[in-house]
Amino acid sequence: MNALFARKTVDQCVADGAVGGGLKRTLGPVALTALGIGAIIGAGIFAAIGTAITGDTGHVGAGSAIIVSILLAGVTSAFAAITYSEFASLIPISGSAYTYAYATLGELVAWIIGWDLILEYAVGNVAVAVGWAGYFDSFLRGVGLELPRWLVTDTWSALSNPALLASAPHVGPIPIVFCFPAMAIVGLITVVLVIGVQESSWVNTLMVGIKLAVILLFLAVGFTAIHPHQWVTPTFAPNGFKGISVGAAIIFFSYIGFDAVSTASEEAKNPQRDIPIGIIASLIICTVLYIGIALVLTGIIPWDKLNVPDPLAVALQYIHADWAAGILALGAVAAMTSVLLVFQLGQARIFMSMARDGLLPPWAAKVHPRFKTPHVTTMITGVVVALGASFAPIGVVLELTNIGTLFAFVLVAMGIWILRHTDPDRPRPFRTPWVPVLPILSALFCIYLMLALPLLTWIRFGLWMAIGLALYFLYGARHSKLRARHAGGA
Ligand code: ALA
Repeated sequence: MNALFARKTVDQCVADGAVGGGLKRTLGPVALTALGIGAIIGAGIFAAIGTAITGDTGHVGAGSAIIVSILLAGVTSAFAAITYSEFASLIPISGSAYTYAYATLGELVAWIIGWDLILEYAVGNVAVAVGWAGYFDSFLRGVGLELPRWLVTDTWSALSNPALLASAPHVGPIPIVFCFPAMAIVGLITVVLVIGVQESSWVNTLMVGIKLAVILLFLAVGFTAIHPHQWVTPTFAPNGFKGISVGAAIIFFSYIGFDAVSTASEEAKNPQRDIPIGIIASLIICTVLYIGIALVLTGIIPWDKLNVPDPLAVALQYIHADWAAGILALGAVAAMTSVLLVFQLGQARIFMSMARDGLLPPWAAKVHPRFKTPHVTTMITGVVVALGASFAPIGVVLELTNIGTLFAFVLVAMGIWILRHTDPDRPRPFRTPWVPVLPILSALFCIYLMLALPLLTWIRFGLWMAIGLALYFLYGARHSKLRARHAGGA
């Protein structure tokens, strides 16, 4: 029983991070903040904000009160960012919340969190790739290029569209419908990441520049067309606090990503100082932009017109700024590309950390001798995400990502509290203030948003975690290096 809760010491975590060839240390505070912004601004604010405002089947929306939802999700993320920062400065190696849990809550919880993070990183990227394909398709159509629908529709959604199935090409009796652009972009990004993080970081910084520019364009063009009465008509919050909470649980997706900065710890020049800077600075910048976007969006178009895949572009078209809508669509494609980049990078490194610990097979821990990247896990993640993105619909995967990420944040917050008791004297380059009040608040906010998600999402989440537990007992528990060390010691 004790083995389940065996903990790695913080020193062990850091020492384990130093083996395996090590990764190149190239990233400073600006590159890390860009990495954060690269991961944060994407499908959430460009696409999912429409659903958060209007609701859809099975959901009520926030209406113009989306601004309150954004603040609620922002506060939740801010608490989590603070607790993450303490861990990241304390344990400056790859692996994110997984590694932190190993040091504080023991192996079983670490496995649970590592498995859960697949929802945030890989499954989240499925949602982003689908969002990417949606904006890419509307951009192409804007310039007069129409791809056949069977090549840009996810298989799951196509199943409820008999006309599309009938018009699709067939292999024998089976119609072929899948989202090709989503698959292709994930493949391309996988190649970039195998080649190396320095090149990827450069690409990321360029993408971040483009996405900031198109958001500023949206704010500037929209600002001149705001009609303040739109903020209050027909009612500010048509579905009351329930709508605001559901809106927050959906728009939370747009904040996910600041924690991905911590997965680049082994590539940071001075992780103990710069990782907290990267996490907190990127979150602050994005929150300010989101508040601006929400105000302009709900100020220029009636909220009930936003149940579309590309709400920001539609809002610009509504005020007859079609030229700006076109530029924005292209910028959104760049924005989501950088999200994909950061999350593919993060997922591969989490798998690598789990393999180093023996919880996944050893080949997953390999670092490429020349490129110094975890090429095996990068390629596996690429294949799985590309396949998922070709057949899964955005709504389902997005909610699954949110519930999984919120759950990880709960465990991280509790970990901070526990570590203050189990290892109080260790120097903490970044300290979470007001422990235990802040970690408890952090967990409560996360649980509140989780409870706003539908029952079906909870069931899917439960199933996912059950599969993870089964795998742990079948493989991880038998191959754990920590257990072997303890057994050897005994
Ligand atoms: N925050 C990221 C996005 O919105 C996941 O795309």
